Amino acid sequence: MSKKLYIKTYGCQMNVYDSKKMADVLAPLGYAPTEEPDGADLMILNTCHIREKATEKVFSDLGRLRPIKEAKAEQGEKALIAVAGCVAQAEGDVITKRANYVDMVFGPQTYHLLPEMILQANGGERVINTDFPVESKFDLLPTGDIASQGPSAFLSIQEGCDKFCTFCVVPYTRGAEYSRPVQQIIDEARAMADQGTSEVILLGQNVNAYHGTHAGETWDLARLISALAEIGGITRIRYMTSHPRDMNDDLIAAHGDVAKLMPFLHLPVQSGSDRILELMNRKHTADHYRDIIARLRQRRTDIAFSSDFIAGFSGETEEDHQQTLQLIRDVGFAQCYSFKYSTRPGTPGAVMGGMLPEAIKDRRLQELQALLQEQQLAYNLAAVGQVMPVLFDRKGNRPGQLLGKTPYNTSLYVDAPERLFGQTVDVQITAAFQNGMRGEIVTTETTATRTAA
Ligand code: 5AD
Ligand code: SF4
Repeated sequence: MSKKLYIKTYGCQMNVYDSKKMADVLAPLGYAPTEEPDGADLMILNTCHIREKATEKVFSDLGRLRPIKEAKAEQGEKALIAVAGCVAQAEGDVITKRANYVDMVFGPQTYHLLPEMILQANGGERVINTDFPVESKFDLLPTGDIASQGPSAFLSIQEGCDKFCTFCVVPYTRGAEYSRPVQQIIDEARAMADQGTSEVILLGQNVNAYHGTHAGETWDLARLISALAEIGGITRIRYMTSHPRDMNDDLIAAHGDVAKLMPFLHLPVQSGSDRILELMNRKHTADHYRDIIARLRQRRTDIAFSSDFIAGFSGETEEDHQQTLQLIRDVGFAQCYSFKYSTRPGTPGAVMGGMLPEAIKDRRLQELQALLQEQQLAYNLAAVGQVMPVLFDRKGNRPGQLLGKTPYNTSLYVDAPERLFGQTVDVQITAAFQNGMRGEIVTTETTATRTAA
């Protein structure tokens, strides 16, 4: 008999990928995904710990799941509540103490053990697993027998981080950097292509530090991308998230040489001040970042950039803040993410002096966002009138409408028949907004193997 599986995913793309993997692991046990928690037999919160208030949010969501579990119990049925992801990893003991109705708490490196853990939990045991057996996870998670993720899909190739930026929890929640072996990734990409995926987004917390093994050799990300570009059916390749220190010459060259590698890069810089970059332990300067951008633009003139910024890091002066605004003006970003600094327990940043008042952080964040949004809108508006190959990867809100992505990672709405879902089609951009664009189909001629560049 089919059981219902509810997973709520918070945070980054890695969690989205992990949630899909959990569903893949549980499918053979008869669990079918459901959108709503009501009536679910297993409810998993796949949590994120990157910024503040994460734990409180998890407790408030847990409070909503509790009556669902109790309603099932009244009918003599058992429902399990689980907390997975980075909050589980970082605060597992707090969760079990504060919410005794939680049956399972497990970290990101244990998802392959789900069947076993469910068996224990159904037997009445409380399961807590925050171990770090990262290699066995990837060896044991399914790669061939996977549910389709659609035309654009994530593929995790690297996990964890050894950079230890002073504000960041990732090295503690996801552990040391680990790269999956090349063959595993190629097998998974082939299986994805067989399931109808054309765009593969390679994921890792520090993805361009990738150094996987193959036949006794170590491959970097550039080499892996070239190999994946050989797979028929895969027409677009992207990767995220990268660190400036790991943008090596070959990877920069790949942006000019590999047509399937999309002309878009998310490259977080966090700050434009060398003093703050040093306090953040970023291991690069603002000019180092500008230089990488310039070299990428030499290889691929039309490449678009996005970045992450932190406003109001401890010790940040007005001058430092102005330097960040200057870096933004110098580079010109197509997309942007900016966050107010929040100290995370357990990170070096949490014990650093120089915390700024909230009002200053708020004001600086607003200034960053105003400039970044202005750039994003200008970038989108400049596309109006252009024709671009668009991969239709999502259904629109209303019938007769599809959502797609340009090579530059901009989303757009197009009136298009459903049969074009999953296809790449030439679209003329007719209007642009802050967060997207609208377009019209130029031609309905498509082939599954065309490249977008
Ligand atoms: N405070 C604010 N933003 C943070 N980020 C990571 N940790 C923090 C923090 N403590 C941001 C960084 C990172 C993105 C994923 O989240 O900009 O690149
Ligand atoms: Fe966190 Fe990224 Fe720095 Fe690693 S490189 S510590 S994941 S911000």
